[in-house]
Amino acid sequence: MGGVNAVRVASACGKLLLFGEHAVVHGVPAIAVGLSDGVEVVRVDGPPGWHVPAWGVDTATGAPESMVHAHRALCEAAGTGPVRLAVTSRIPAGCGLGSSAALAVASARALIEDDEAAVAVAAAASESVFHGNASGLDQAAATRGGVIRFVRGAPPEVRDLAVGGRVALVVASVGAGASTAEMVAGVQRRISRFPRVGGGMLEAVSALVGCAERALAAGDVDELGELMDINHGLLCAFGVSTGALDRACYTARDAGAAGAKLTGGGGGGCIVAVSAEEHAVAVAAALRSDHEIVRSYLLTPDGVTA
Ligand code: PMV
Repeated sequence: MGGVNAVRVASACGKLLLFGEHAVVHGVPAIAVGLSDGVEVVRVDGPPGWHVPAWGVDTATGAPESMVHAHRALCEAAGTGPVRLAVTSRIPAGCGLGSSAALAVASARALIEDDEAAVAVAAAASESVFHGNASGLDQAAATRGGVIRFVRGAPPEVRDLAVGGRVALVVASVGAGASTAEMVAGVQRRISRFPRVGGGMLEAVSALVGCAERALAAGDVDELGELMDINHGLLCAFGVSTGALDRACYTARDAGAAGAKLTGGGGGGCIVAVSAEEHAVAVAAALRSDHEIVRSYLLTPDGVTA
């Protein structure tokens, strides 16, 4: 941007998890999409905190508490002291579309210029308040955009994935999601109680992510759909689905989607359905009859469009 009086607008992507959420916390690869309709952040004068009119939030008032803590962690890690950040968001909060990671990355970018490593540290400090044992996947998608394959690690392994055709995605929210940290802890408890069963489930997710990578490269919508259905079944087995999420998946499938699954932490939040482009309007219309927030995206060899 440059210029002494220029306002620096920093941005970051929302995210959509296509395959492998929860298993990714345990070292299994996952596939995510960075959505360009994310958040923008500008540093402004005024009482310290995040001001997010789209979410009805101003943390300078002391609420919500988790955001107050996350804002403090961000400013401490960025070394700026408490500052006010004005946020424009095009993604709803708390429903599995990566709002907290987009907020963390865009805010870190607003505070730190030209140092991606420092941005990553500051964003992670903020994200860990929301996510507990976070894999870093949301942050990677928020930072990078596009379609990515992610493996947890220090540093994580992240690479862009090719998309070999036109793949329509329809996302619907069934309402607020549960706390991601609690859902992650619940999956950990189930795996610890039944280690052989849990290990088999993690292996199954790992295998299906490999298949999904090839199906994406081939632009094979039917195969992606079948793999999403399998992944949803495994997420049910991990204990993170709900009746509302299951019903929304059936609504999408009955309307012509090739497959559907919950996306993100679960316990509420969103589903994602994959379909051929010509069926996407009917899938979105069916979901809209029960759900207020429905978004459509198209993956193409040239990128992701809303
Ligand atoms: O709640 P979300 O949409 O941000 O989901 C995060 C994805 C998980 O795999 C459940 C947790 C993680 O840290 O990867």
